[in-house]
Amino acid sequence: MIPEEIIDEIQTKTDIVELISSYIPLKRAGKNFRALCPFHSEKTPSFFVNPQRQIFHCFGCGVGGGVIQFIMEYEKVSFPEAVEMLAKRLGISLPQKRLRDSGNRDYLYKVNQLAADYFFENIFSSSGSRALSYLRQRGMGEDIIKEFKIGYALRDYRDLFNYLRNKGVSISILDKLSLVVKGKDGSYFDLFRDRIIFPISDVRGRIIGFGGRIITDNTSQPKYINTPASPLYTKGKNLFGLSLSKEYILREDFCLVVEGYLDMITPFAAGIKNIVASLGTALTQEQIRLIKRYTKDIILVFDSDKAGQNASLRAIDMMLEEDMVVKVLELPAGYDPDRLVREKKEDFLKLLGAAKDFFVYKLDILRKAYDGSIAARAKIASEMIQSILKLQNEVQRQEYIKLLGSSLGVAEEALRIEMRKQQKGKAGQRYVEMNLSQDKSPFEEEHIIKSMIFYPEIIPLVEDALKDIEWEDRVLGELFAKVIECYHQEKKFSEQQFLEHCSAPQLVARFSKLVFNDFKLDEKVLEEVILKIRRRHNQRLRDYVRQNIKEAEQKGDEERIRELMQEYRALLKER
Ligand code: CTP
Ligand code: MN
Repeated sequence: MIPEEIIDEIQTKTDIVELISSYIPLKRAGKNFRALCPFHSEKTPSFFVNPQRQIFHCFGCGVGGGVIQFIMEYEKVSFPEAVEMLAKRLGISLPQKRLRDSGNRDYLYKVNQLAADYFFENIFSSSGSRALSYLRQRGMGEDIIKEFKIGYALRDYRDLFNYLRNKGVSISILDKLSLVVKGKDGSYFDLFRDRIIFPISDVRGRIIGFGGRIITDNTSQPKYINTPASPLYTKGKNLFGLSLSKEYILREDFCLVVEGYLDMITPFAAGIKNIVASLGTALTQEQIRLIKRYTKDIILVFDSDKAGQNASLRAIDMMLEEDMVVKVLELPAGYDPDRLVREKKEDFLKLLGAAKDFFVYKLDILRKAYDGSIAARAKIASEMIQSILKLQNEVQRQEYIKLLGSSLGVAEEALRIEMRKQQKGKAGQRYVEMNLSQDKSPFEEEHIIKSMIFYPEIIPLVEDALKDIEWEDRVLGELFAKVIECYHQEKKFSEQQFLEHCSAPQLVARFSKLVFNDFKLDEKVLEEVILKIRRRHNQRLRDYVRQNIKEAEQKGDEERIRELMQEYRALLKER
């Protein structure tokens, strides 16, 4: 935890205009500054910086916040890391403990680097000759071994252990980095023994962990051992190879995603350099966001077996949700990318050119799994709709619905109805269901939040008037709660304080949008708005209760009808 006074000081001393201009060119536009948004691609600038409020907001993609949020977004770092970077920039020193921790982190990277250098030395020594000839046999040249710093861990139980201990590294550090494991007798020994070592780097090329492969395929041993969790390495948060491939991903503007170490290395060595590996885990949201920093176009290259298919299908939905363009390269049975590129590179390139759009890929799989009966086609439709609903763009959704209709030979209108049903089911919240016919204008709700932010003294009053309301706009509802929470903590409210306490990016983004332009409170208008919201809430509840009464009547549930009627009368009275 970084003390709040320090966060305050950093926020006060950093000028947002100066900070952001050190990253991207800002142009004055009236009271504000504008620029092409660095967080999404656009041709006309919709990214604004408001110097009075010390806030930025992109009206195109919706990101926004204060200086800390800008650094978090731009540098892809956590809140404390962003604070640290800003502190450094200002020459403010963070308290001792923090410093020691961060010093410690640098040290941890250093020790990992020492280990990697050592493994790497081994591979060209006589003890590593078996490993080296294995790599050669798998088609790996010396240049690639050097580029990836592939190494070898000796057979001895305490080889790396002794090497690093002699360099003065403590056991507790070795343990922290998971370079050693503790035996039953309490003594430590090397995690990687007699294995080929692939160092795993973060985006910046710092070594965060290792993967170790056995040399002779021997069933009694797992083929790969990877660094378990360490302060530097968390499974699913990194992509193997990205530090080397990122510039090529940017240049080509698409990225191949494979599963294994060698599936990344072999194509890379063969000139297909815009490639990363997920390392045997199901692709995570974090990994997808990492790729999204460099491109929105992804080609998945997973095994063609059932497990690979399922992994692709899951990954597809996650990427569509992130508004990415997804294709799938289908490998011939029995091949992984490593083998196919090594044996038939031309075939691989051909398949790459013919990669299937997510839609075609998924539809083909489903068609193979089901027959042509009506029930089967309905099932296929509903599975396809599930993915179509993940698309962020309405035009795309409509086009895919058309395509789905013609591919399955079913009426588009029926698909649209099913789509609406699934959408409703997904939202699952009562108010969404109640609201369907209502026009959904959060104008009043926005007005309330702005009033609270710009005139904190009215927060208790507004809280009292609206605390039982279900908000039509979920994000505004959450903002309402968060603003109140902040206010109660310190009996005051400021933008800085909010940005310090709120870590949910969606809330921060909405917040920055709401505070971006000036706002004047008119008490009369506020009163009307509150009344309007309450009235609408009351109306919604009545609709809902009425609907329930109808259902109870159909079932002939007298007691439930009585209950509901009572509720209904109470609502009428409140109105
Ligand atoms: N994996 C792992 N632990 C295992 C097996 C696999 O962590 N016991 C991960 C590795 O990252 C591996 C990936 O899953 O690279 C894919 O596994 P697999 O297809 O079994 O191996 P390949 O990558 O094909 O390995 P190789 O080509 O070296 O035989
Ligand atoms: Mn393989």
